[in-house]
Amino acid sequence: MSINLVVFASGNGSTLQAIIDAINMNKLDAKIELVVSNNKNAYAIERAKKFGICTYIISSKKIDEIDDEMFEVLKKYNIDLIVLAGYLKMIGPKLLKKYRIINTHPSLLPKYGGKGMHGVNVHKAVIDAKEKISGVTLHFVNSEYDKGEIIRQTTVEVLKEDNAESLSAKVQIAEKKQLIEVLQEFSKNRI
Ligand code: GAR
Repeated sequence: MSINLVVFASGNGSTLQAIIDAINMNKLDAKIELVVSNNKNAYAIERAKKFGICTYIISSKKIDEIDDEMFEVLKKYNIDLIVLAGYLKMIGPKLLKKYRIINTHPSLLPKYGGKGMHGVNVHKAVIDAKEKISGVTLHFVNSEYDKGEIIRQTTVEVLKEDNAESLSAKVQIAEKKQLIEVLQEFSKNRI
C-alpha cells in the first residue's frame, strides 16, 4: 500500500533525500505530498524542488501559531504520516492530535535528547562523555522534545579516534537505513 508523506525539515535535507531516493528506486511505496520548512534557506527545499515536490515555508514563529498555520495548510492533503527529518521546532497540539508523526534523532534516546540536542551538538556531547556506543532512534512525536514512544533504535560503535564529524557521518548512514526500513513497514501496514 502506498503511503502519503509530508516531510518537515529545517536544514540540509539529506534525510529527505534518502526518502526521495528510496521512492525513486522503487524501494519504498510512498509519495511525498509536501516538504515543509521553517527555514526558507534550507537546502531541503532545493532538494524537494529539484524532484518536483511541492514545498511550503512556514511564516509563523511561535509554536501555537505554527500549529494553526500548518493545520490549515495540511487540510487539503491526504496524509498518512508526517516525518520530521531534521526539523528543529516543537509540534503543536492540533497537529499532534490529528496526525501520526515520527522523528528521527541521532542518539540512543533517552540519552542526548531534549531542547538544543540536535545534529552535531548531540555527537559532540557523546564524544565528550566518552561513550563507546551511540546510535539512532526513530520515535513517535508527542508534546515533549524527543520523548515519544520509541519505534526502533540502531546502535553505532564510537571508536577512540572518532570526533563529532566522523561519528555524525556513521550515525547518519545508520539513521537513513533505519528510517527507510521503518517507512517500508509502515507502507506494508505492519506498523
Ligand atoms: C539528522 O541526523 C537528524 O537525526 C537530526 O538532524 C539531522 C538532519 O540532517 N535531527 C535532530 O537532531 C532532531 N533532534 P539532514 O538535514 O541532512 O537531514
